[in-house]
Amino acid sequence: MRFGRLTQDPVTAAVPVTAQAVASALDRARTRSLAYTDIDADELLRQHSPLMSPLVWDLAHIGNYEDLWLVRTLGDAVETRPGLDDIYDAFRHSRASRIRLTLLDPAEARAYLREVRGRTLDTLDRLDTLDRLAPLSADAEELLAGGFVYGMVIQHEHQHDETMLATHQLRAGPPLLAPGQAPPPGRPVPRAEVLVPAGPCTLGTSTEPWAYDNERPAHRVDLPAFWIDTLPVSNRAHIAFIDAGGYDDERLWSAAGWQWRRQENLTAPAFWSRDGEQWLRRRFGRLEPVPLDEPVQHVCWYEAEAHARWAGRRLPTEAEWEKAAAHDPATGRSRRYPWGDTDPMPEHANLGHRTDGPAPLGAYPAGASPCGAEQMIGDVWEWTASGFTPYPGFRSHPYREYSEVFFPRPGADSAFRVLRGGSWATDRSATRTTFRNWDYPIRRQIFAGFRLTRDGG
Ligand code: AVJ
Ligand code: FE
Repeated sequence: MRFGRLTQDPVTAAVPVTAQAVASALDRARTRSLAYTDIDADELLRQHSPLMSPLVWDLAHIGNYEDLWLVRTLGDAVETRPGLDDIYDAFRHSRASRIRLTLLDPAEARAYLREVRGRTLDTLDRLDTLDRLAPLSADAEELLAGGFVYGMVIQHEHQHDETMLATHQLRAGPPLLAPGQAPPPGRPVPRAEVLVPAGPCTLGTSTEPWAYDNERPAHRVDLPAFWIDTLPVSNRAHIAFIDAGGYDDERLWSAAGWQWRRQENLTAPAFWSRDGEQWLRRRFGRLEPVPLDEPVQHVCWYEAEAHARWAGRRLPTEAEWEKAAAHDPATGRSRRYPWGDTDPMPEHANLGHRTDGPAPLGAYPAGASPCGAEQMIGDVWEWTASGFTPYPGFRSHPYREYSEVFFPRPGADSAFRVLRGGSWATDRSATRTTFRNWDYPIRRQIFAGFRLTRDGG
């Protein structure tokens, strides 16, 4: 069997490499996509924000990407439905302009997804059972190694699911999604910050089967000592920043950040409002008091940078973030996850949209990294100080538009900032200690917060 015998639990494996487990992971992603789009047609067809696509575009784009990579590249070359590649090409049409395309309507989009999925499963079956009867091209063999191309498509669907959730969050009006579970309780942590001693560590990966090209190859770096907070910055700490006049003190902001703060009149995280002395937040159409002991969410990079400066601290570089999350001084190795190499379980991290937001601080002691940092995976994406640039030895694979087109020209500054760790809305298959996400420093609709660092000594 090309994908090997079924030795993993198809339900809990983050990286399934058997055909059966791949089929199960594909199905799990689809259940999620359909849940986020099981709403009235006019809600699906509407543009809720210029930052986002109409939900029905994301839905059909998920199917088109699957058709491209799991049907046409691996199986027979015929499109499931001709004429859709242009409309659902993310690089030909900006999010704001997709509303003007002749999109499949919701019923057509769902039918298209079903057709593509049928062909995907036929191809998977053929590859798995007939194996060597039909020799594959070297390119297809490379795509299939470790189930990579299936992992790429499964992660892609979950990444769009997270994007669709951000669209739901931006949407005005009463809730459309059922509320999530309550998160586990928080706890006070023994130390507010932990020291990561100076020394070499491995960043990135050359062995993780589903890692994207931008996570490769593994390479050594030698970092000076630094302190990193055990936990992400809380709403309580961010309210202290607000109360101290942080949003009005130009000295705390970079020039670009201050200009953006003025232009947009930023005074608090997105979706926050004030009712007398009480801060409220609107979350998926529900107005709630801001809980003080949760990671702050919906802040842009500029706000994170200003808060850090106010606190006499700084944002970690992505190398520091990854070392704090993954480096095990006992073995000298980097871990796939902060707690070890085993796949995420509910006690390790808040992932997969079980809850509707980050869990209270201290809720995941079992998810601690070797240095003692907690909640590095899940809860909130964490802004880092770093721009999005290729690792030494980077090779675009399998397509330039995933990572390479977002890299700056050599020597130029990146327009993006790297985010690490994944959020409560991220699927476990789409995050790990090496995973790199990126966005513009002005963006606030993503499920992002930050963690503070300072130089060690
Ligand atoms: C990695 C989240 C920046 O949404 O633009 C989805 C992921 N790439 N389809 C994005 C992606 C192609 C990407 N981010
Ligand atoms: Fe996409």
